[in-house]
Amino acid sequence: MPEMILVETHGAVGVIRLNRPAALNALCDLLVGEIGSQLVDFNANPDIGCIILTGSEKAFAAGADIKEMQSRTYPAVLHDDFIAKWETVLRVKKPVIAAVAGFALGGGCELAMMCDMIICADTAKFGQPEINLGVMPGAGGTQRFTRAVGKSKAMDMCLTGRMMDAAEAERSNLVSRVFPAGTMMEEALKIAAKIASQSQTASLLTKKSINAAFETTLTQGIATERALFLSLFGTADQKEGMAAFVEKRTPSFAKPA
Ligand code: CAA
Repeated sequence: MPEMILVETHGAVGVIRLNRPAALNALCDLLVGEIGSQLVDFNANPDIGCIILTGSEKAFAAGADIKEMQSRTYPAVLHDDFIAKWETVLRVKKPVIAAVAGFALGGGCELAMMCDMIICADTAKFGQPEINLGVMPGAGGTQRFTRAVGKSKAMDMCLTGRMMDAAEAERSNLVSRVFPAGTMMEEALKIAAKIASQSQTASLLTKKSINAAFETTLTQGIATERALFLSLFGTADQKEGMAAFVEKRTPSFAKPA
């Protein structure tokens, strides 16, 4: 049984809730390992079509565990490469939504940015405060933050270590939507249920294609998209989705066999 996460399923939606309240969900090795194992389980479960990663009202996660990192040496971190274990989420093929309330700082912000989209409560506070600790972001912050919000704001956030509220995060395209804190989880579940009701194959390939936009030229990205789009004509889901439209009914997509 995991000690630092709570796991729920709501129909075809899997929810992983970080649950280390005494440390504001600081991402220690145990917590990161438990998140990774559960992500792998949900990814392999054909009944799950979308995953939500969330925290508490006070904190999504206040960063990597500073107390655990404090005494680590360069040779030790070089060999252990502890941040690599955070990246399981990047290997999940199903859509993963980060639902953020309260603090998403340092590694917490970076973990949220590794997810496919971020929605947040109006209480959310994002930041890359590692500079205050004499270090810098180490789980993708300088790269994903910059791609999301642009160079000037990324420099501002990473060099001053200041926090950004939900309104600024939405304005800056760090998050896709902001909800009142009291309804954020309900809204996250609605979004995830909608995603989970679609063709799992189409969402897998859509995610793959959007992610390709960050790794390739436009020409290569368009070629990737075209090949993936055409491949969907070999699926039962394409036949069902288009037949349902023509017959004026709701499509019913089968779980991947
Ligand atoms: N690591 C370990 N413990 C943490 C933590 C972290 N990142 N963030 C908070 N905690 C602990 C605190 O030490 C405190 O524990 P104790 O009660 O045992 O002292 C508990 O959580 C509650 O925290 P505060 O009392 O500080 O709560 P607050 O409401 O006054 O402040 C906060 C909240 C502004 C988030 C503040 O806790 C804070 O600044 N946290 C650190 C944020 C940070 O620097 N994150 C970056 C970490 S480095 C990193 O993430 C590297 C990377 O890129 C991978």
